[in-house]
Formats: sequence, C-alpha cells, structure tokens
Amino acid sequence: MLPSTSAAPATRPVRVARPRRYLMCPPAHFDVTYSINPWMHPEKPTDQSLAMVQWERLRSLYLGLGHQVEQIPPRGGLPDMVFAANGATVVDGRVLSAKFRHAQRQPEGPAYLEWFREHGYLTRDAYHVNEGEGDYLVTSSRILAGTGFRTDVRSHTEAAEFFRREVISLSLVDPRFYHLDTALAVLDGDTIMYFPAAFSADSQATLARLYPDAILADEHDAAVFGLNAVSDGRHVLLAEQATGLIDQLWARGFVPIGVDLSELMKSGGSAKCCTLELRPGPGAVK
Ligand code: ARG
Repeated sequence: MLPSTSAAPATRPVRVARPRRYLMCPPAHFDVTYSINPWMHPEKPTDQSLAMVQWERLRSLYLGLGHQVEQIPPRGGLPDMVFAANGATVVDGRVLSAKFRHAQRQPEGPAYLEWFREHGYLTRDAYHVNEGEGDYLVTSSRILAGTGFRTDVRSHTEAAEFFRREVISLSLVDPRFYHLDTALAVLDGDTIMYFPAAFSADSQATLARLYPDAILADEHDAAVFGLNAVSDGRHVLLAEQATGLIDQLWARGFVPIGVDLSELMKSGGSAKCCTLELRPGPGAVK
C-alpha cells in the first residue's frame, strides 16, 4: 500500500520571488564626518574602498537574483547619499520626495528628486520632514510609517493623501533604531519581522494586533541590523550576524542571504538603507 500523503507533516510555505527594481547610490564619497545617530563616531576611521566592495557585492546579489538596479550619481560632500532608502518613497510610480531632518543631509532630498524628475516620475516635493523609505515601509495592504526621531508625524497624513493608501503611524523610542527600517522589515505581502522594544507600548500593541504571525527579532539581531533587510518575497538579504533571524526565516520558508556591510554600519546603515525600491504604477513601462 502506498503511504498516505494526507498525514504528511506541515511543510514550510513556498515563497515566491517577484522581480524588483531598485535604486542605489555608490558609496564613492562615503565617510563618517558627523554624528546624527548613536552608531556614528567621526573619530573612528572608515575605509571607503571596503565600503565600495561591500556595496558592489550587495548590488551583484540583486542582479544575480534577477532584479534591476538603477544607479544615481553620488555627490561630493554628501557622505550619507549611499543610503538610497532615505532618498524618497515610491509607491505606484508616484514619488514623495524626502525632506531630511538634519542639515548635513538636506541637499540629498533635491538630489534624489531631480533624478526622479529626469526619469519621468510623477513627483511631489514633500511639505513635511520625512526620510523616505527609512521611515515608510510598504506592505500589500498599507504603509507602515515611523516617527519619533526623523520623520515628522504630519508627513504620515501627507503620504496617506498622496499615495491614497492607509498609513499606520508607529512611534520609535530607542535612538539606536532611529528609522523604521532599522526595527522592522516587510518580507512579503503582509508578513513582517520586527523588534518590539524599539516601539512605544501603543505601537507594540498595534503591531501585535495587525501582525499576529510576525517574526520577532531579539535585541542582538536587531543591534547587528538584521532587520535592515531587503526581501523579494523569497530571498531575504540581511546582515550575516543576525543568526537568530536567519534561522527563523528558513523555518518560515524564506531563503535568507547573509551580507557583510560592516563599513556602512559605521554610519548606522545596512542592506535596506542602501536600497530604494522603485514600485511601478499600473501600466508603467519602467
Ligand atoms: N547616517 C545615516 C543617518 O543617520 C544612516 C541612514 C541609514 N538609512 C536607513 N534607511 N536607515 O541618517
């Protein structure tokens, strides 16, 4: 008699990758010359050529997975421009520009906006302070929005109106996790992973209610930037030191790919910070 398949043990879900289009900025002028988050220590040396090697590796991983990568030319005097995720938010082909909180990064907003205008996107010059996808993460049904350190909560209303999507405001309370994308990552559809203690009690309750099946990170994995991850729905690129998250991702059917971005971490960023997703609009040719 053939063994019955109906009693087979529960299998890991099959995760399907969707091809993505990303915008990245080579770290040609990368350095830590000022400190606007607790990770940045200008007195410690940085290695710009190592940053470039690590960044190139990340870019080739995306290409190897079949994704498209556009590049924006880096500008001198803007050492954080490599963190493309902060450059804007792109949903349905519509671009909300970034408006940076700190003077050191303010020229990046217009630099990214110019790229989007030149590439034919419908753009909005943001009225309120916001740091792009650093604080706006897009799920299939809504936009999760961070506030507390960088993005002004009033920007959340601006984003909801401009993108015509529901925006859920989340308050960040730990200065190490100053952007939403350092404390939470969207893995697929409405599957997320996050570090609860980075959020206020109210926001923790909101996340627990909306995402009862979320993967939860421990403090170690969050502090090595494991949540600063990029997922195509199947492959999840994240800091290789985040071993607990890597195990949990495997168990949930994802394919984690560890990356080493130690140089960029000196500025408080990892894989997601270097990657801005260009989400096309309906009928877009791009
Ligand atoms: N040094 C940069 C800053 O503090 C790092 C930005 C990291 N980007 C991110 N998406 N979290 O603004």
